[in-house]
Amino acid sequence: MKLDGIRAAEARLLLSTYERNPLLFERGEGVTLIDEKGDRYLDLLSGIGVNALGYSHPAIEEAIVRQGRALIHTSNLYFHEGQAELALRLTQMTGLDRVFFANTGTEAWEAAMKLARAYAGLLRSEGKAIGTKFLALEQSFHGRTYGSVSTTYKAKYREPFGPVMPGVEFVRFNDVADLRAKFSDEVCAILVESIQGEGGIRPLSQEFFAAARELTESTGALLVVDEIQAGMGRTGKWCGYQHYGILPDITTLAKPLAGGIPLGAVLCTEEVSRAIHPGMHGTTFGGGPLACAVAIAVIDAIEREGLLDHATEVGDYFQKQLRGLQKKHDCIVDVRGKGLMLAAQLDSAELGKVVVKEMLARKILINCTSDTVLRFLPPYILQKQHVDQAIAALDAIFTEHAHGAGIAETGGQAHG
Ligand SMILES: Cc1ncc(COP(=O)(O)O)c(C=O)c1O
Repeated sequence: MKLDGIRAAEARLLLSTYERNPLLFERGEGVTLIDEKGDRYLDLLSGIGVNALGYSHPAIEEAIVRQGRALIHTSNLYFHEGQAELALRLTQMTGLDRVFFANTGTEAWEAAMKLARAYAGLLRSEGKAIGTKFLALEQSFHGRTYGSVSTTYKAKYREPFGPVMPGVEFVRFNDVADLRAKFSDEVCAILVESIQGEGGIRPLSQEFFAAARELTESTGALLVVDEIQAGMGRTGKWCGYQHYGILPDITTLAKPLAGGIPLGAVLCTEEVSRAIHPGMHGTTFGGGPLACAVAIAVIDAIEREGLLDHATEVGDYFQKQLRGLQKKHDCIVDVRGKGLMLAAQLDSAELGKVVVKEMLARKILINCTSDTVLRFLPPYILQKQHVDQAIAALDAIFTEHAHGAGIAETGGQAHG
């Protein structure tokens, strides 16, 4: 079936959750996606921050074939080789002590919240006064399942499904006074992304992060950091919080963890792990042999190819070029991010849509999140020449469209 036939069939058969771009991709190579006509697209979004090693990376292919031949699934009732080895790698990378494997970001985040509530329950059973409330941040995004969406800020994600999970209060982003005012011994955890992703690539301030750590330490509440978008090396360090010198009690990883095979992980300290016992939490698929083997191959490849330093170097270059564009085009009101997690905020949502559409016409994939924020989450293997290509395209588009050109209908939307 070709694109038109697929579009018509999907319109009839699928729940209408996505406004897809009219593109039918058949394969990928490096940083390039190739459609059914053979047209090549530079991918600066990498499947919303998933394809860290790009497409057709030999290490991923080799791990899939090897593990696919040996064993794909056994359930969590039995041992296999992958979980302990991957857990060792992840604990070394994050500075935390224990791991639970899930399948997706939202599932890892659910596990993180359950762990926080269970730990608060344990503290109460030991005589400590601590409540069950979560403090989350304005503009946060933690996923679509009920607990996750309850801690996700934007009303459009929560309200159609109400009532969502009670016991969540939102704190103004990077507002230390608001955080201090809302924090009490009713709070079991402060929930943050080190760099908000879907909310517009917004890094936490050092001051806010430090205040969250200090407040939680003062009562026994937990600091829970969602690294699903910022983690696994995208910012040039394994976790975004490592840029701040702050260690959380719980963190979550997913997106690039197994290079495109679904896998999520929640990690916690030894102390927090006291709250969990057999039977309290589980999953049929999470941490299966295939996903674990691929994740180990991804980590090995990131290390072998020096991709943390590379993400820093190419990311700094990209950010510098974006700042150059900002000087030239008034419509860019801010440039921010770390490593290869970058954004250019525009002065209008209309322009955001135009730029995404015009980049697509030039065969470059980006997206626009939070209405006005152009988001760049490229594969870590991106080279400076790809940055130059993207910057030249953006420059031409801003020159042509920044001052109120007409806006046609665009596909695509920001989520994830
Ligand atoms: C920070 C963050 N947390 C959680 C999620 C949810 O992950 P998933 O879509 O794999 O459920 C996302 C997805 O975009 C995310 O960016």
